[in-house]
Amino acid sequence: MEERVDFGRLLPAIQEIVSGRGTRDEKLLAICQFLKNEVPYYNWVGFYLVEPGEEQVLVLGPFAGAPTEHTKISFGQGICGQAAETENTFIIQDVSLETNYLSCSPDVKSEIVIPLFKGDQVVGELDIDSHLISPFTDQDQEFLEHISLLVAGLC
Ligand code: SME
Repeated sequence: MEERVDFGRLLPAIQEIVSGRGTRDEKLLAICQFLKNEVPYYNWVGFYLVEPGEEQVLVLGPFAGAPTEHTKISFGQGICGQAAETENTFIIQDVSLETNYLSCSPDVKSEIVIPLFKGDQVVGELDIDSHLISPFTDQDQEFLEHISLLVAGLC
C-alpha cells in the first residue's frame, strides 16, 4: 500500500505558487506539475476553464500528464461536465462502472473533479485521474477543495 501523503505539508507550497509571480496559466501549470510530482497516484492533473463568451463549456487549460483529446467538454457531459452542471465535487473510484464518462486512456481507473467557483458561478474545475482503483480519501477531497478555493481567485 502507498504511504499516505502529508497534504498539510503541500498546501503552503500551493499558496506560494498562487501568490507568487507569473501569469494565471503559468501558476496553474506549476500547480498541476507540483501535484503530479508530489502525489504518487495523481497521474494526470489538469484544469478545465469556462472561458468568457463560451458559457456551459469547459475548455482544457494547463495540465500535467498525457495529452487528452477531450479539450472541450459541455456541461453535463462526462464526469467533468456533470461536476460543472451539478456544482459538486465528483469522486469516481472506479470509472469502469460509469456510463456518463469520457475516457482519455485505458490506464485511468479513477477520477476526482472539483469545481472552481467565483461567487456562485462555476468558472472551472480541477480534474485528477489516477491509475489506481479507489485511491481517493476524504483527505484528498479536503485538500483539493482547499486548493480550489485558493485557485478560484486567479480565474
Ligand atoms: N474523464 C473526464 C474527461 C477528461 S479527462 O479525464 C482528462 C470525464 O469523464 O469528464
